[in-house]
Amino acid sequence: MHIATELNAQLSQLQQQNLLRTRRVFQPGAQLISFAGNDYLGLSQHPLVLKAYAQGVQQWGAGSGASPAVIGFQPPHAYLCRQLAEWLGRDDALLFSSGFAANHCTMRSLAPMYMQVVIDKLSHASLLDGMTDATNSWKRFRHNNVQHAQQLLSAEGPNLLVSESVFSMDGDQAPLAALADVAVQKQADLWIDDAHGLGVVGAEGCSAAGQLTQRQLPIITATFGKGLGVMGAAIVGSSDLMAYLHTQGREYIYSTAFCGAQAAAVSAAIRLAQGYEGQCLRARLADNIDDFRTLCKQNNIALAPSEHAIQIVPVGSDQAALMIGNLLAEQGIVVGVIRPPTVAKGSARLRITLSAQHSQAEIKLLIQALIHAGTS
Ligand SMILES: Cc1ncc(COP(=O)(O)O)c(C=O)c1O
Repeated sequence: MHIATELNAQLSQLQQQNLLRTRRVFQPGAQLISFAGNDYLGLSQHPLVLKAYAQGVQQWGAGSGASPAVIGFQPPHAYLCRQLAEWLGRDDALLFSSGFAANHCTMRSLAPMYMQVVIDKLSHASLLDGMTDATNSWKRFRHNNVQHAQQLLSAEGPNLLVSESVFSMDGDQAPLAALADVAVQKQADLWIDDAHGLGVVGAEGCSAAGQLTQRQLPIITATFGKGLGVMGAAIVGSSDLMAYLHTQGREYIYSTAFCGAQAAAVSAAIRLAQGYEGQCLRARLADNIDDFRTLCKQNNIALAPSEHAIQIVPVGSDQAALMIGNLLAEQGIVVGVIRPPTVAKGSARLRITLSAQHSQAEIKLLIQALIHAGTS
């Protein structure tokens, strides 16, 4: 059989290159401390989020029953859209099962309306894949290099300028105000994927939307599976954008909506992120980031610059990164071991993510484990 031989050959090659990903079951609490998730505020375990989910299941059932365009758009979904719009100061929002689907759908639907799309080189795979499928002209600007973006934007327009608020594999942040200025200058529409900023960055956790108006930043990707601790995503922006995607977005139309209970859980998480508790959690997270970076400095553990919960230990070789990851796991610490194709060849790294819920003792254990694994 062709498939068996071909798969075997491909898998052997990946194994030899140290690029084979193996499935592993992560059982939280089983004497393992995770520094690998994106639940930066710990909202996935918050009693009010859990209660909203449980009550939502009782009220709305375990599934939505259909696509949002049929009967899958129910009162908790409608409430969540209004809540997102109000929180982020936009007209409206459209819900998707995942950030990947939201980005891919929106890019493929919108890109053909532009002469050119100019996108940060390190943008997420969902945006790049959407772009590839849209097949119109697109260019990648050097990471966070606004001048380069400006050079690439076409004088003729219309242009779409795309970046992320916080880069998931680096932890650094985009110069949003400068990107918005260039967008105005070049008559480009700006789209920011706020996957790792929402709930975590800025006053009330508004992140990019807190810094730029809808006019300056007409398209935002909001994901619910990271700082908000649940799952799913939304595109947030103008009423016309939502009306268009509702009618034309293939991932939106031809896919079952996430359930009402999930919408209710996300709403509960947003209320927390917006309010006083969110403020306290963000302050605790900032303290943890500070402690971690100070301890790394004291112990000569080199880190990439980042003020975000995402902290990077550059390693280089895939084999060395895997070995360090395994040594950490032996000591009960789980971190992300990031290799190509997620990052460029020769730039394998440890992706350490901090949460407001990590204790000082856990951060000290992480530092000890990193020293023991030879990173200092
Ligand atoms: C920047 C960015 N955008 C989008 C996504 C996709 O979001 P989701 O996990 O909800 O599919 C991710 C997740 O990895 C991400 O890091």
